[in-house]
Amino acid sequence: MPPAAAVVGRSIMKAFRHLATQDLHTRRVEEAYRVVVECVTAVDPAMRLYMFGSTAVYGVHEKGSDVDFVALSETDVEDGKGEDAATQVAKGLQAEFLGKLAKVVRQKHFSWNVEEVRRTRVPVIRVKGGGGVDFDITANRRNGVRNSALLRAYFEQDPPCRWLSMGVKRWSKRVGLNASVVGGSITSYGFNLMVVYYLLQRGALQFIPPTAIDVAKVAPVPPYLPLEPPQNDGVELGDQVLDFLQFYMHEFDAAHHVVSLSRPGITTKEQLNWTKDAEDRARMNGEKINYQWCIEDPYELNLNVGRNVTPLKRDFLRKHMDKARETALLTST
Ligand code: CTP
Ligand code: MG
Repeated sequence: MPPAAAVVGRSIMKAFRHLATQDLHTRRVEEAYRVVVECVTAVDPAMRLYMFGSTAVYGVHEKGSDVDFVALSETDVEDGKGEDAATQVAKGLQAEFLGKLAKVVRQKHFSWNVEEVRRTRVPVIRVKGGGGVDFDITANRRNGVRNSALLRAYFEQDPPCRWLSMGVKRWSKRVGLNASVVGGSITSYGFNLMVVYYLLQRGALQFIPPTAIDVAKVAPVPPYLPLEPPQNDGVELGDQVLDFLQFYMHEFDAAHHVVSLSRPGITTKEQLNWTKDAEDRARMNGEKINYQWCIEDPYELNLNVGRNVTPLKRDFLRKHMDKARETALLTST
């Protein structure tokens, strides 16, 4: 017997009690924004800087969480619904800009650790040691800004749902499912897509077509969206967490269906051609693409955000979800 919703909710609230005394305002990362703008401007004064990732998605900044930035050209912004180029040429140009940027960051802030990562799907520079805030910087890619704005637009429909997302994210990191920890396979972004998809399936949110999101209408620094403590001592939150686990363990048909925000209702693997046959052939950067636990990226063509979920990792996911009911997302132990 899993614990009652009230117990689960209270336990999760307790795990986040440190937030009650924290300043969660997004202005706390404005200083980091200014520092990066200064460096970007030194490379190319016409480039604009956008913040995305969790700060944009939730409208709050949790202490210690990294910040994602992207430098966009004026044309990128004006064509705010445009598709990002996925060619090697585009990737090369992004890496070239980021190389120059890395140089400037090192010059201006010689004690910081600046790493250029080129092997990934998206070229990125990782900066550590910037006054307690670590950040990633990418170039000329709108999709991160768009998918963050899409997730945020969903959470704005029902701001308390951010607690479900934050609880799931915290749990995913602690049990080792999150791609940010060794052996993990699904990013926080992937878990957010799962959370919103679940809420859509339950009719708790209204569908938003991804094409509606326009970078030209997104604020470069995300506005603050105050996070109120869960209502009713966490009863609804506990209910939602248990129902989320129930949904992915027993209702979501992982063998045939895809977690997707691209269209309302059900999306099948068949529809996307994410079949056994495609799985046997598909590779990305030499790595196998799995279609065991499918999460469709709303903007990237033919990209499974769950591509690193092997059959073994899918079993881990199920086992951890089963356990999570008893442990209130690993907050009660
Ligand atoms: N992102 C993406 N595609 C991915 C992974 C990430 O576009 N496959 C983008 C998304 O815009 C996401 C941002 O990168 O919002 C940051 O990703 P991630 O770090 O996974 O999510 P956060 O919400 O920032 O969570 P965390 O607090 O763990 O950093
Ligand atoms: Mg992040």
